[in-house]
Amino acid sequence: MLVTKQPVLRRFWYAVMPMSKLAAGPQPFTLLGEDIVLWKKTDGQPAAVKDRCCHRTAKLSKGFVQGDHIACGYHGWQYDCSGACVKIPQQDTQAIPPGARVPAYHCAERFGYAWVALDDPLMPLLETEEEAQGHRRIHQFDETWNTGALRLMENSFDTAHFAFVHAGTFGQGDQPKPKHFALDETAYGFEARVLLEINNPPESHRITGTTDPVTTRSFSNQWHLPFLRKLGLAYPSGIRHTIYTCATPIDDGRIQLIQWLYRNDSEQDCPAALLNDWDMRVVAEDKDILDRGVDPNAPVDVSRREEQSMASDRPGLLMRKRLLALLQEHGEHGEHEAC
Ligand code: FES
Repeated sequence: MLVTKQPVLRRFWYAVMPMSKLAAGPQPFTLLGEDIVLWKKTDGQPAAVKDRCCHRTAKLSKGFVQGDHIACGYHGWQYDCSGACVKIPQQDTQAIPPGARVPAYHCAERFGYAWVALDDPLMPLLETEEEAQGHRRIHQFDETWNTGALRLMENSFDTAHFAFVHAGTFGQGDQPKPKHFALDETAYGFEARVLLEINNPPESHRITGTTDPVTTRSFSNQWHLPFLRKLGLAYPSGIRHTIYTCATPIDDGRIQLIQWLYRNDSEQDCPAALLNDWDMRVVAEDKDILDRGVDPNAPVDVSRREEQSMASDRPGLLMRKRLLALLQEHGEHGEHEAC
């Protein structure tokens, strides 16, 4: 599936960057192949429009913020969050031509990130129960990977790679036969549950609240259409560790990995820097595989048998089935040739 060829994917919310980035002024981003620019308004909310001035095509991300508006750095035309040009410094306001505007997008702040939907969203913006429960939120990743969004989602539900890719961290290298998830389909996608024996981090990274070398953990792993994963881990110590992973599709070959974490303990119990250091080691192992050498274009029509599968691939196959059904429901098909 080439994400830029599937218009329905424009109708979902994606986390595109931490709000803190907008303190430095307008920021460019490419979402589903579309160049956009974000800025922060005076009420603290983000706004997003196409990153191309309608006067002489200059990138608005090279401009500056003026009150609630974004101003082009070339001749100073200003746009509001609806994309309308509201000021042309060289002439009177009454003389602004009605066609002077740029496409604008749905944009909102949530969980410390700016989220964008390019077209009218099919689903509301994500809510998390951990916010209501007062769990602390820790920012983890905001980085670009050379892989496809579906590839990262599948990897997040693939227990068969632990013994190989993660032998250096939590994987048990001598046990290649994976446990399988129990899958329950939902309106948002599916929930996958399993009890897994996992190697604990070393003494220097005691993040699970136990000194046992191995713990059995309850995994509740949710896939939310199209490219968001929520992993809830329950440790025997009572610690709840909940990860939200967004594979935000930049284009057909790249994603922005945005991830944050909730914990029901305190900074004194386990410093955020320690948690992030451990997760950086784990995620670097995934990146080493996915970022180099795995075709970013994962097929969604499995009837074409372009890839062989095994039992532990069931979550990924269910994603492909649901994505194909989504595309077909909107008159699309999933298989385009990569250029
Ligand atoms: Fe933007 Fe001229 S190109 S104001």
